Formats: sequence, structure tokens, C-alpha cells
Amino acid sequence: MSTSTTHRLLLDPAAQDLLFRQAYTEDRFTGEAVPEDALRAVHDLVRNGPTAFNQQPLRIHLLRSAASRGRLARHLSRSNREKTLAAPLTALLAVDNAFHLRLPELFPAFPGAAALYAEDPGLRERSALMNGSLQAAYFLVGIRAAGLAAGPVSGFDQSGVDREFFPDAEQSALLVVNIGRPAATGPRPRAPRLAYDEVHRTL
Ligand SMILES: Cc1cc2nc3c(=O)[nH]c(=O)nc-3n(C[C@H](O)[C@H](O)[C@H](O)COP(=O)(O)O)c2cc1C
Repeated sequence: MSTSTTHRLLLDPAAQDLLFRQAYTEDRFTGEAVPEDALRAVHDLVRNGPTAFNQQPLRIHLLRSAASRGRLARHLSRSNREKTLAAPLTALLAVDNAFHLRLPELFPAFPGAAALYAEDPGLRERSALMNGSLQAAYFLVGIRAAGLAAGPVSGFDQSGVDREFFPDAEQSALLVVNIGRPAATGPRPRAPRLAYDEVHRTL
């Protein structure tokens, strides 16, 4: 499907549809497994997305075993439990709370960056949340680029998930993402999106 603005974009219209116009948040998937090489391809693409000081705080835990799913499921809200247990793959996205220790290697242009974050735990936490969330968004779009679908889920008890998976507080849970091939559905309504003029203001 195209809109009157499609032609203004350099991205091929089919790719626009794949990434956004024809992509939906999915709750139901076919039983087809999500192979590791698809996730590697997604990573090789979306790791190029920008983060502040190139800090890349996102860490991704692939919950493939029934045991690991079970550990997560008990911390999910009731409405998110069944679909997560039924998905071919569930990724637990988290942020590395010590991301700043990698900055000398990841952002050598500013040797003082690590100290900036070491001195200010509040800044470190805000930065991990912002940049981890950006990377989570790149990940969702990357999943779509691989012809897969994603069902992001933030309805979980974060402190429960943190205690379960990160008892030493080395990481903090950010988002659960169910991944697979979407189960065939008919035409679907798109929930309303805000119009350009509701979102933008020229100052
Ligand atoms: C960060 C994030 C958290 C979400 N959490 C949940 C959730 O806990 N449970 C759920 O059913 N859907 C969840 N969603 C799905 C949204 O409701 C969905 O993306 C939105 O309604 C747009 O739907 P569409 O992508 O199909 O147009 C979440 C989406 C995002 C991006």
C-alpha cells in the first residue's frame, strides 16, 4: 500500500511497506522456528543504529528453552503470558548497567566519557534507558526487515524479572519481544496514528 508521500522517500516502497505500512505488532505466530542466522543478520544490520557516545547498552537474551520461558512467564502480566509461552522465540531485552566500561573502546574520540558516567549513577541509568530503548526500536524494525514479526511486551514486573535473571544487578530488564512468522490473518485495521500537524510544530 502506498500513500501520497511514499515517493518522497528514497527507500523502495516495498521496503517501506515491509518495515512500517504492512507491519503489525503480532501476538500469534506460525510454529516455524526462528533460526540463529536470521538473528545474526538482524544484528549485523541494526547494530549500526546510533547511540550516545556509541554506548550500545542493549543486551539480548534469547529464551528458547521451556525452562527459561517459565522463569520469565511468572513475572508477565496475565494477558501477556499465554502469547509469550506460545511464541516460537522470546527475546528478553535488557541494558548493561556498566555499559560505560566499554566506552574507551567504543568511543575513543572522548576518553573522558567513561568517567562522566562512572561519577553519576542517575545519568548512567537515564542514558542506558534512552539508548537501550533506541536500540530496542532498531531491533523491532530489524526483525521486520528479516521478514519476521515482533510482539513487544512491556507488561511485566520489572523488579521480578531483574531478580530472576540479573541477581547481581549487572543488567536491567527493558522489554520482552516475541518473534516469529506471523500467523495468517485477514486485512487488519490499523490503530489510529497521530497526524503530522499534531506531532510537529515549527518554531
Ligand atoms: C514498548 C512497547 C511495549 C508494549 N507492551 C505491550 C504489552 O505489554 N502487551 C501487549 O499486548 N502489547 C504491547 N505492545 C504492543 C502495542 O500495543 C502495539 O505496538 C500498538 O498498539 C501498535 O500496534 P500495531 O503495531 O499493530 O499498529 C507494546 C508495544 C511497544 C512498542
